[in-house]
Amino acid sequence: MQEFADAGSDTPLRIGVAGLGNVGATLVRILQKDGVELTRKLGRQIVVTAVAARSRSRDRGVDISGLEWFDDPVALAKSDRIDLFVELIGGEDGPAYAAVKAALEIGRPVVTANKALLAKHGVALAKVAEEAGTQLGFEAAVAGGIPVIKTLREGLGSASIERVYGIMNGTCNYILTRMGEEGISFAECLKDAQELGYAEADPTFDVEGFDTAHKLAILATLCFGYEIAPDRIHVEGITRISQADIKVAADLGYKIKLLGIAQRSDGGIEQRVHPTLVPKGSAIAGVDGVMNAVALETDHVHELLLAGPGAGGPPTASSVLSDILDIARGTKVPPLGVSSAELLPYKQAPMRAHEGGYYIRLNAKDVPGALAAIATRMAERSISIESVIQRPDLHVTDPAGEGMRTRTVVLLTQDTLEADVRESLALIADDGFIVGEPQLIRIETL
Ligand SMILES: NC(=O)c1ccc[n+]([C@@H]2O[C@H](COP(=O)([O-])OP(=O)(O)OC[C@H]3O[C@@H](n4cnc5c(N)ncnc54)[C@H](OP(=O)(O)O)[C@@H]3O)[C@@H](O)[C@H]2O)c1
Repeated sequence: MQEFADAGSDTPLRIGVAGLGNVGATLVRILQKDGVELTRKLGRQIVVTAVAARSRSRDRGVDISGLEWFDDPVALAKSDRIDLFVELIGGEDGPAYAAVKAALEIGRPVVTANKALLAKHGVALAKVAEEAGTQLGFEAAVAGGIPVIKTLREGLGSASIERVYGIMNGTCNYILTRMGEEGISFAECLKDAQELGYAEADPTFDVEGFDTAHKLAILATLCFGYEIAPDRIHVEGITRISQADIKVAADLGYKIKLLGIAQRSDGGIEQRVHPTLVPKGSAIAGVDGVMNAVALETDHVHELLLAGPGAGGPPTASSVLSDILDIARGTKVPPLGVSSAELLPYKQAPMRAHEGGYYIRLNAKDVPGALAAIATRMAERSISIESVIQRPDLHVTDPAGEGMRTRTVVLLTQDTLEADVRESLALIADDGFIVGEPQLIRIETL
């Protein structure tokens, strides 16, 4: 294990930063600009001494002229001229993985903002860090500037978490907020988000919910002590949310948010990412635009809501810096909250066993008996309907119903089993009274 001098040492803490993009260049800028204040806080100077990126000549708005340059992030990670390695390249494999692993293997502490890397290799990397007796910090990997990892690992160490849920993707929250406030379509909002730099040219990873799933998988491991399982999460994105859904939900006292939710259930751990109806008066409903929020429900503290900027250079670099300070001060915690050997095998609770309220939007054929037949199928599965809403002004056309008179009908159920809802909808489809795919949005009790 690498000797890691204590805070208060006369020798500066030498940082190597791989990746000088949005986050990396901002981190170098903050460390150069706030050096005096940071030295005062830590009792020891922190300096970036070496960097790695692809293009040496690119202007990054930060002075790297006096820093040692590495073309190869792995060589930087292993260099004996740094004390701590920061990985800000991104990607679940490739140079990010190779460099982080190489640093940990020689006992060098690592800080990363890379959720994809953590979701895929987090358990293996935590094991390498533990075996080498070093630290792996990843505060910035989940919800950017919000200190949720530290809260879970240290602040709530003794509490038992019952449920964690949150808005963890700023792109989706921005789109849903604007759809709600301005009455514009998903496609228009996405185009604006891309022009403003809030959404990638290929937004699939964000709008289909996978980015939220990566973050949820990491949080769920810290909350419940199970292995990280990013591919065993129920994931639905926001691309099918229509103005009709947003408006009917608002009439009923709800907002639609893309939530990542993990909770214990009889069948194991329920991990799900999907658009969700949340009561307008709930704290999470007030988190709008690109902001993120994570709520933690525990046995002792009840509910704790952490809200703030989930992305962007300065908030993310600030979380990276907080990990650097913690490690420099000598804070020692198992990366995943418990030793990797203590993590339990993940047991996924089946979605069919989920119980809750449902918003169901159907395109019913405008023929006698259609509504009665739908109600009968629901009753057969003991599904209690709380409200039936028909708003002719919010008619949703479905290509499958072309040339046919249809009525858009929204049903709100009381708490019911997902399996019953799915089965009754399949029977309703077989009866031939609806066209197209029903819209199903879960209601979360908050
Ligand atoms: N941006 C955010 O708001 C945010 C928020 C939370 C977490 N994160 C995470 O932070 C990490 C960095 O994100 P970012 O937005 O800063 O990314 P970015 O702007 O795309 O920057 C990536 C950097 O990595 C460098 N790089 C790529 N491949 C490399 C290689 N093979 N060898 C050496 N350097 C290489 C690039 O070099 P060149 O500049 O020379 O091309 C670039 O400087 C990612 O894991 C991301 O998920 C970002």
